[in-house]
Amino acid sequence: MSNIGIPGGTTINAGLLAWIDEMAKLCKPDSIHICDGSQAEYDALCAQMVAAGTMIKLNEAKRPNSYLCRSDPRDVARVEDRTFICSVSKADAGPTNNWMAPDEMKVRMTKLYDGCMKGRTMYVVPFSMGPLGSDIAHIGVQITDSAYAVVNMKIMTRMGQKVLDLIGKDGEFVKCLHSIGAPLAAGQADVQWPCNPDNITISHFPEERAIWSYGSGYGGNALLGKKCFALRIASTMARDEGWLAEHMLIVGVENPQGEKTYVGAAFPSACGKTNFAMLQPPKGFDGWKIWTVGDDIAWIKPGADGKFYAINPEAGFFGVAPGTGASTNANAMAACASNSIFTNVGLTDDGDVWWEGMTDEKPAHLIDWKGRDWTPDSTEPAAHPNARFTAPVSQCPSVDPDWENPAGVPISAFIFGGRLSKTMPLVYQSFNWAHGVYLAATMGSEATAAAVGQAAIRRDPFAMLPFCGYNMADYFSHWLSMGRKVANPPPIFRVNWFRKDANGKFMWPGFGDNMRVLKWIVDRVHGRAQGVESPFGHVPTFDDIEWKGLDYPKDKFQELMSIDREQGVVEARSQEELFDKFLHRLPGEFLALRELLKARLWRSPEKWEL
Ligand code: OXD
Ligand code: MN
Repeated sequence: MSNIGIPGGTTINAGLLAWIDEMAKLCKPDSIHICDGSQAEYDALCAQMVAAGTMIKLNEAKRPNSYLCRSDPRDVARVEDRTFICSVSKADAGPTNNWMAPDEMKVRMTKLYDGCMKGRTMYVVPFSMGPLGSDIAHIGVQITDSAYAVVNMKIMTRMGQKVLDLIGKDGEFVKCLHSIGAPLAAGQADVQWPCNPDNITISHFPEERAIWSYGSGYGGNALLGKKCFALRIASTMARDEGWLAEHMLIVGVENPQGEKTYVGAAFPSACGKTNFAMLQPPKGFDGWKIWTVGDDIAWIKPGADGKFYAINPEAGFFGVAPGTGASTNANAMAACASNSIFTNVGLTDDGDVWWEGMTDEKPAHLIDWKGRDWTPDSTEPAAHPNARFTAPVSQCPSVDPDWENPAGVPISAFIFGGRLSKTMPLVYQSFNWAHGVYLAATMGSEATAAAVGQAAIRRDPFAMLPFCGYNMADYFSHWLSMGRKVANPPPIFRVNWFRKDANGKFMWPGFGDNMRVLKWIVDRVHGRAQGVESPFGHVPTFDDIEWKGLDYPKDKFQELMSIDREQGVVEARSQEELFDKFLHRLPGEFLALRELLKARLWRSPEKWEL
């Protein structure tokens, strides 16, 4: 159905039709378009945005079928202080989420939504998170007045008529309502990136499985399949149904003998998940291959054979552009070589895109993300630090042949890592499942650009702090219980690529060389690698790491792996601050595990070394 001059989809789903009707009465759009997800629809919407000045078509010869979009400079990242978990009980949202009672939030937001789509089209975007029909997948429908959100959702999810066919006349779906905010005053053209920054509100109603987002066009706030559904709402579904919805990449590690081992790895936003998901093995690793299943989100269910199986619920990458280049992530560059949308990057004079870190040499001139002339002498960056590319997963050269397998891929290890310049060694393995859950729960990281207003260092349990849709203490208990659901729960590792030396220099080369750590992890999974016990967990010695192709001094490795007793004790003590927040809901195991950590540190030398 459509009344905007392009064909649209059709639905006989009574619940959906009633909801569309209700939302149209509230938001009062000029027209309604049910998306069929076709290429023709995508092209037509992009052409409309180009005509309106919202998007710029890039040079077809350099970047086929691709577009640049510049946001309002006030709308460039997720807004955690405006993100709410509106569970019926405040305690269920927990101390780490903003909360408002569902009724109160609905009264407030209904006022905002009233008439907010006047002058615009209301798009109805049916989407599947996960391969259509997979037992692990779920369906959502987003109502939005942002054509930018629609075209991004086409890349990021399986979107369109096939989803409407799947839900038939009475299939269920998660209701995702989105508006970029009330139209501008009469006479003002609604062409640039509209948003309503003063009223941005991103609300989740976990009991109802519904999302209401208002005022922002930025990805994490506006592409509701991603953080809002696939993490915040899905985490509550996962708690209730016995599975996991995680802020994790999924990769397959294939050795020269053809053995493939899949791992899930969680890192806070903008800490290199996309690079790790597309890692190119370094020199010395001939015959090794990394296969990409996903770079941001994993949905994981226990299988009948006692293993965990994971899917990537997304179909696209919404990657951070700055810092991504042919030398750091050639796979990402290939993925966004065509059919991609770029947000808040620079526009070169020949109609292509550029951002800091894409090439060593800077273009002599371009138009920056704010639409101003830019030269290498400019004091501000050409691209916003949180500029993004939206690109289809299928275009990534390292995409795993099984990335769309509806059954998922078997997960053999979990990895958790933050961005920490001190205290934490390169890698260590938990002593058991409960200790691994503890290591993930106490993860910390230094601030990044993916969200506004972060503290310099913050605890980010499981890299889920901004994304857990319920009380995190219950989430820790859920993880503990999941270990009892499978016969052999996967081993859990902590990594830290970001340790610095006394001169402030990174001690580890990172990027492709992270493969060396991954190899040790995979070999541990298969019982082939050694490790020794440190106060934090099992660690590799110098000889346990494959160094072929890298000249890395042994004494530097010793330093990288060392544990300063005092810093360790400070860390253990500060974990208490996190735990105190959760009071009686904190799993009792955690208190015992912290005491054990302290005991190991007290018994260790002032500087623990390999
Ligand atoms: C993301 C984020 O966009 O974590 O993936 O912010
Ligand atoms: Mn993310």
